[in-house]
Amino acid sequence: MPDTLRQILASESALSSITLRGWVRTRRDSKACSFIELTDGSCFKGLQVVIDASLPCYSLMSKILTGASVEVDGDLIASPAQGQKWELQAKEVRLLGEADGTYPLQKKGHTPEFLRTIAHLRPRTNLFGSVFRVRSKMAFAVHRFFQEQGFFYAHTPIITSSDCEGAGEMFRVTTLKQGAPAKPEEDFFGRPTYLTVSGQLQGEAFACAMGNIYTFGPTFRAENSNTARHAAEFWMIEPEMAFCDLQADMTLAEENVRYLVKAMMTECPDELEFFNKFVDKELTNRLQQTLDKPFERISYTDAVDLLLKSGRSFEHPVVWGEGLQTEHERYIAEEHVKGPVTIYNYPKSIKPFYMRQNDDGKTVAAMDLLVPGIGEIIGGSQREERLDLLTEAMAKQGLDEETYRWYVDLRRYGSVPHAGYGMGFERLLMFVTGVSNIRDVIPFARTPGNAAY
Ligand code: 4AD
Ligand code: MG
Repeated sequence: MPDTLRQILASESALSSITLRGWVRTRRDSKACSFIELTDGSCFKGLQVVIDASLPCYSLMSKILTGASVEVDGDLIASPAQGQKWELQAKEVRLLGEADGTYPLQKKGHTPEFLRTIAHLRPRTNLFGSVFRVRSKMAFAVHRFFQEQGFFYAHTPIITSSDCEGAGEMFRVTTLKQGAPAKPEEDFFGRPTYLTVSGQLQGEAFACAMGNIYTFGPTFRAENSNTARHAAEFWMIEPEMAFCDLQADMTLAEENVRYLVKAMMTECPDELEFFNKFVDKELTNRLQQTLDKPFERISYTDAVDLLLKSGRSFEHPVVWGEGLQTEHERYIAEEHVKGPVTIYNYPKSIKPFYMRQNDDGKTVAAMDLLVPGIGEIIGGSQREERLDLLTEAMAKQGLDEETYRWYVDLRRYGSVPHAGYGMGFERLLMFVTGVSNIRDVIPFARTPGNAAY
């Protein structure tokens, strides 16, 4: 295989007889030669290809328009032009696939809204190429973070009969019979099933057998939230640790964020520079601050107090016992703490059945990690490991005993304190790239009313 542009550009010296394949960004002609900016998506940069008018292949030039794919053989030589170290002096150019004047990615800047309508072509732009290279690097760094600490990667099911968060916001799975959805009594699985909202419950079964595990896969929410940070399909990173309490859970979550921020800064410097220049001028500073000091921790009760004392008039009133709204979370992270912050010990009444009740009887050992610009990127808790308290909470929230019998078994047979969390992978990507809409960090986003592709 010929080298990628990333490998070629990393060369310390000139190279003779190399081949580069890619897509044309621009073409510019002078009397004696043509210049093509060619990119193959492997890195941030394009390479200038110089095609001398005396070459036989020069006759192709009129067909080589923006968007066309070409293969070039030539020599990598020091470029006399400003701002670029190398250029490719072509010996042979082959046109692989033409693109005509209808190619939608012309040189001018395009809005993110327009680019969402051409999600199949937008990875060819600088912005989206960068976002998706970072996405790839970050996914690998997630595995590295856990694997380096001896966690096992557990594959939890996508199709499930349980509703982990108890919010009823699930997509039903059904089969088709002659094109129409099958009747409920003809359920393929003999019971109603859904796309999972979280791998946590099955993750707990594995933690309570193998110690420290994590899941990392797609999750689905049928919540009709048309916001810049909600998607119907997103990836979640969910560690679950046996013999672990809320304190250790919060510490791991913090280390996890810091590890991934560091990975972004060391492994994607070109992309970071680009995002910092064109997307969010505060990005590098903000990421650096994340590394500089430990994250603050504030109890829910203290958070409510500080919101009430802030003198702010929020759109949603601040009331102990109710969930914190995005505007509250962002006030705390952006204006009060001015950095990442973990809020813990939330009211029991607003949290799912599985969270461990605190001694006050009113709160549970839950935590949310909030970051400036986004709000919540992690939600987690210590789990209720006491059989009586768990079954009581399940009954209160109206959960079907039969469906969750296996989950209760984990408290019947060798129950141990355990804890975990879920990190929204896309929210993390928004944080490390400065991209402000979740639709722009997902290759093909699914949001209410949108499932093109
Ligand atoms: O806070 P959530 O709902 O927690 C859980 O699902 C737990 N079962 C996780 C666990 O303890 N194992 O979701 C966790 C994270 C959120 O903090 C957020 O980052 C992300 O998942 N998230 C979403 N991301 C994008 N779009 C949505 N609709 C999201 N809903 C949650
Ligand atoms: Mg949450």
